[in-house]
Amino acid sequence: MKILVQSSGIDVVPGIINELKAHQPDWQYFAWPTDEQCDYVVGWKPPAELFTRQPHLKAVFNYGAGVDAVLAMGAVPAGMPIVRLEDAGMAQQMAEYAIYGVIYHQRRMRTYHAQQRDKHWQQHEDRGNVQRPTVGVMGLGEMGGTVATRLANFGYTVRGWSRTKHSLDGIETLAGHDALPAFLSGCDVLFTVLPLTATTQGVINAAALASLPRGAFIINGGRGGLIVDADLVAALESGHIAGAMLDVFHEEPLPKDHAYWSHPNVIVTPHIAATTPIKDGCAQVVAKIAALERGEVVSGIVDPKMGY
Ligand code: GLV
Repeated sequence: MKILVQSSGIDVVPGIINELKAHQPDWQYFAWPTDEQCDYVVGWKPPAELFTRQPHLKAVFNYGAGVDAVLAMGAVPAGMPIVRLEDAGMAQQMAEYAIYGVIYHQRRMRTYHAQQRDKHWQQHEDRGNVQRPTVGVMGLGEMGGTVATRLANFGYTVRGWSRTKHSLDGIETLAGHDALPAFLSGCDVLFTVLPLTATTQGVINAAALASLPRGAFIINGGRGGLIVDADLVAALESGHIAGAMLDVFHEEPLPKDHAYWSHPNVIVTPHIAATTPIKDGCAQVVAKIAALERGEVVSGIVDPKMGY
């Protein structure tokens, strides 16, 4: 079996090859670009040229959870299965990111950081442990489901929203576009980890922001395209939205002149909420290739029409 490994952006190819080898030493591994004809590609945003030079590929393994980029490129030949990583350790990271954001907001950490700069000692007792925010989680797949459950185990009241109905123990869940305003109206903190698709593009727009209670806080661990930036900046300016912690952006790296960088109520992180853990990611890829070779059905196959 010959496995092609490709990456756009940071050079993780040698590390991935080593890790795949550790899991399955009997296969051969090649770094793109090569004309060695391979059976599978493990890649991140593979270019169209890869598919013209590699006509015998049986499937594409997306080295990440989100497939919006690979689908938008339109390079994968029609009918070729695209398999995305499922959890692989990313859900736990996403839960950590969400919990940090919730606590940062709830426990007024921005205020206390600012006070420390001025050596100013003042307690704000109207929040703290007394008022626990209700946290809304948008997207209840592997990542969102884990985030919602971890937050609930941590003692927060959690509500969830997804395109289709999901049931989670002890968590009120709503589904579908029509339920969105009712869902949002009960969220003091909104955490989004929806896949970016034609239907979720810009879902956090002026109307959605207006449905949130005044003073709500937003955490985006999904994709930048879920949010209409101008609408969020306006809602931050008006004070309707108290703040945001954002990990993903329409354009990455976030352009230096973007309003988010210098907004006092926005925390910007450089797409680190959940990065692909190389060990678990490669173990999953090897197990799924072996299963496909045995003629079995694997989970995580993308429906290009749905976009995830
Ligand atoms: C990261 O954003 C991923 O899609 O895995």
